[in-house]
Amino acid sequence: MAPNLLILGGTTEATALCRRLDEEELRARISFAGRVERPVSQPVPQRVGGFGGVAGLVDYLNAEGITHVVDATHPFAARMSANAEAACFEARVRLIALTRPPWQAQAGDKWERVPDIAGAVAALDRPATRVMLAVGRMHLDDFAPNPQHTYLLRMVDQPKGALPFPNCHVVVDRGPFSEAGDLALMRDHGIGLVVSKNAGGTGAAAKIVAARKLGLPVIMIDRPALQSRAEAHSVVEVLRWLGHDDTDRGV
Ligand SMILES: NC(=O)c1ccc[n+]([C@@H]2O[C@H](COP(=O)([O-])OP(=O)(O)OC[C@H]3O[C@@H](n4cnc5c(N)ncnc54)[C@H](OP(=O)(O)O)[C@@H]3O)[C@@H](O)[C@H]2O)c1
Repeated sequence: MAPNLLILGGTTEATALCRRLDEEELRARISFAGRVERPVSQPVPQRVGGFGGVAGLVDYLNAEGITHVVDATHPFAARMSANAEAACFEARVRLIALTRPPWQAQAGDKWERVPDIAGAVAALDRPATRVMLAVGRMHLDDFAPNPQHTYLLRMVDQPKGALPFPNCHVVVDRGPFSEAGDLALMRDHGIGLVVSKNAGGTGAAAKIVAARKLGLPVIMIDRPALQSRAEAHSVVEVLRWLGHDDTDRGV
């Protein structure tokens, strides 16, 4: 039976995979949670919004005749990944996660590692400074207990409601970001501290490199633990997992 893929998206890697699947004329669609107003346009059909937990995803997989799922969500999207695991098991659909290794501290990095968002909030209980808070919109309210800082927030969409900080500046932009751009941004805003999830990959790495170059401390939030699962680290590995013959493209 020809594969019929569901890609769980929201990352640069998911978009790259869809591009390649389209080139290879493999049948695929991508799913987004619907967190951003304008998702990056994709070469394959897309659907938007939650499935309704594990049961909803099982129904979707069965109704659409999905044969393979690629979990290419962000490493911090732990609930979606756990749901995908459970639903694919129940629906007997093959699943692989397209993942990227976490960033590793290098010479010159001044990282303070914390286990989760709560750890980052606790670590910000310090004298006022100018903080680049790169944790995504969903977690901003968690940081309200430290109003002494001036925050720089970079968001995909202009925030609609009030932000939980008396002093903050919002930059609306979407990755991938460049090192030169992030160096300039941090200098312009006099940033003294960066808070980041350990996302890994290239799309969001520029701020980490920029912080190293500027000698800035980084509060680095470790990834949530996930069940061990089949993983691919590149688009080519996903194609091999599908049993797709890519030899004539020289990969
Ligand atoms: N967390 C981050 O830092 C981060 C950063 C960049 C991009 N993203 C992307 O943003 C999306 C949401 O991330 P999250 O951390 O909020 O996820 P999450 O906490 O793991 O998921 C919460 C719920 O959102 C829905 N959902 C998540 N990803 C979905 C997808 N690709 N397609 C359809 N429904 C999805 C599911 O709802 P139902 O239970 O109703 O199915 C899921 O149970 C993901 O696609 C992720 O790749 C996340």
